[in-house]
Amino acid sequence: MPERSPRGSSFTSGGKEGVHGGTMGSPMPERLILGLETSCDETAAAVITDDGEIRSSVVSSQADLHARYGGVVPEVASRRHLELVTPVIREALGEAGAELTELERIAVTRGPGLIGALLVGLSAAKALAWALRLPLVPVDHLHGHVASLYLKPHDVQPPFLCLLASGGHTLLLDVQDHAGFDVLGSTLDDAAGEAFDKGARLLGLGYPGGAAIDLLATEGDPEAFDFPVARVPGLDFSFSGLKTALLYKVRELGDEELERRRADLAASYQRAIIRALVERTEQAAAQTGAEQIAVVGGVAANSALRASLPHAALAPLELCTDNAAMIASASRYVQEIPFARYLAVDAYASTAA
Ligand code: KG4
Ligand code: ZN
Repeated sequence: MPERSPRGSSFTSGGKEGVHGGTMGSPMPERLILGLETSCDETAAAVITDDGEIRSSVVSSQADLHARYGGVVPEVASRRHLELVTPVIREALGEAGAELTELERIAVTRGPGLIGALLVGLSAAKALAWALRLPLVPVDHLHGHVASLYLKPHDVQPPFLCLLASGGHTLLLDVQDHAGFDVLGSTLDDAAGEAFDKGARLLGLGYPGGAAIDLLATEGDPEAFDFPVARVPGLDFSFSGLKTALLYKVRELGDEELERRRADLAASYQRAIIRALVERTEQAAAQTGAEQIAVVGGVAANSALRASLPHAALAPLELCTDNAAMIASASRYVQEIPFARYLAVDAYASTAA
């Protein structure tokens, strides 16, 4: 089978390199890719052209549905994906002004993520590809985040050092070509986005918490509290000690004082996370001699992180959190599976061997 899953520290899709599909001046119909993403709590569909122009990108977030539980409930997510996947695909096609017959391939997230949620997107993609006799391209979600940089108008070119910080992952990646990456470092415990979400919960800011902390931090003093920045060996990260430090501080302050100092706590806590991310990224750049730094994933939307790395290639805000345009983008560099050979392809929950 041509498809491969990224197990171990190096991930290459084995696919083709470079953008293709030039028309040589003749009025060939445009080759469109439909992407689907359902790995967590966003149901997303997008239509892009083969050369990386976004025609539509529809993201239906389930955040409100999960907020009352303080986090994503996997079974609730799967059921909601099932309800939303068809309308979201319809909306993406409608916004793009595209007919099903204009599609060249279907791209879909295969993993890592919530297995039930992934299976909804994968099954929808298989059914659609099969009905249209199209090839299917299963895409790794992390490759998708990196490929958010390959879309127009930015179209960042490898090689670069990439910080991928999301709700599920915190990775430093050596990206040498469009088709994959090598992992240089990762988190030993919580992901950076998870640290934001857990911190927000302790501060009573609801779920998901990254954007809420980002906003509240603008009103607070980032030096009001001295939260620890873990320095583990190598190029790895650790955020669990920071989260515990916030928990103790919140308990120590008590309800009234917490209310009064909430913005200072948010700003100081955020500062510790951002310092850890920026320090490690700069250390990795120095070690590898990387000339270009890029930042992707949900946490890349953070205003303090963006301000701390002004020379980095930053994923556009709307492409930081989960979306399907990035999945369609990655599919251009992954070996497609021809019609009907993909029916047995399975999803994977984690990239750990
Ligand atoms: O990439 P993403 O949408 O999903 C995963 O693949 O995990 O990332 C979601 C994460 C959440 O933890 C969310 O709190 C965080 O990204 N996030 C932020 C911001 N916006 C989203 N974290 C910090 N500041 C933000 N502005
Ligand atoms: Zn993601």
